[in-house]
Amino acid sequence: MGNFVTFAECVNSPSSACLTSPGFLFPFVMFAMLVAVGAFSVRQDRTRYRRLVKTGLWAAFGVLFASLLAIGYFFVFDPDAALGVDGSALSQTLWLVAISAFGGAVALLIGILGFALGGRVSQIFMSQDAALVIAIDGPAASGKGTLAKRIAAHFDLPCLDTGLLYRAVARDVMALGGNLEDAKTACDAARLLDATTLDDPSLRGPAAGDAASIVARIPAVRAALLDYQRAFAQQPRGAVLDGRDIGTVVCPDARVKIFVTATAEERARRRHLEHVGRGETISYDEVLADIRRRDARDSGRDIAPMGAAADAIVLDTTHLNAEQAFEAALAMVLQRTAKS
Ligand code: CDP
Repeated sequence: MGNFVTFAECVNSPSSACLTSPGFLFPFVMFAMLVAVGAFSVRQDRTRYRRLVKTGLWAAFGVLFASLLAIGYFFVFDPDAALGVDGSALSQTLWLVAISAFGGAVALLIGILGFALGGRVSQIFMSQDAALVIAIDGPAASGKGTLAKRIAAHFDLPCLDTGLLYRAVARDVMALGGNLEDAKTACDAARLLDATTLDDPSLRGPAAGDAASIVARIPAVRAALLDYQRAFAQQPRGAVLDGRDIGTVVCPDARVKIFVTATAEERARRRHLEHVGRGETISYDEVLADIRRRDARDSGRDIAPMGAAADAIVLDTTHLNAEQAFEAALAMVLQRTAKS
């Protein structure tokens, strides 16, 4: 309160002594510190930064609303307490609490705005940094898809699950009644692929994954899908792409390459849980067999075989849950981007 009086007095009758007094400068220093903390926080963990801004705004508006209600109540039902003319000790105290809460909420709101301003400015500078392309590769059900989405959300980057492209090509070949091994039909399907159909739920099942790994062996199919993937990666701020050959073929210059692995048994356990969660009937053994078959096909093919790029960081998620895998991958991205 003392600071506030000094601040108000300085505003009413400014003098050089008053304008340089700690009481007057204190709110500005606090605001600048919050701007700096916001700028730092967004670089450390964007998700936590957003959560802090959101929680802070809710808290500030909540207290503001409650204090305004209380102040309104006093003006309507107990104006003497509000004007300090009269009123019981209790209503005087409650009035003081209400106006202090109002002042606190306004101060909190200004503080949150300072924090958000720092974050915003920092984000603008971050977006002027070199584009951040993150390549996440790995075998079936290694957790690369979940990881890619979380990393993309964290850095506010677009994300492409490139496996869906191969799954969609296989779907379109089958819809045309074609043979998955027929290079001409598969290549036509790849060239004509409509990227707006990638959210088709039928692409999620094991049959679609198995069919995808058959068309994915055809060089012309891979070539036809390459431009789309590269164009996606070349967005101004960068992008996150997950697949099998992102770090080796699609984006060999990606700033960060992560190769996600886990034992076949653990991957089968996770994928089996996903199927059960969607109400599909499939045994663990069938899922494990599918994963092993696809691993063999994906790493044994002549063109763009699945594998870690020489400069990729390998992340074994066998003993990590989704949260731990995200934390580990985030640390890898921050470590790589700090160097480059
Ligand atoms: O989700 P999951 O890891 O099971 O598979 P996916 O990423 O959707 O990929 C399905 C199939 O597409 C893989 O088994 C690969 O044969 C193929 N694929 C590929 O060859 N290259 C990519 N960049 C992505 C997928």
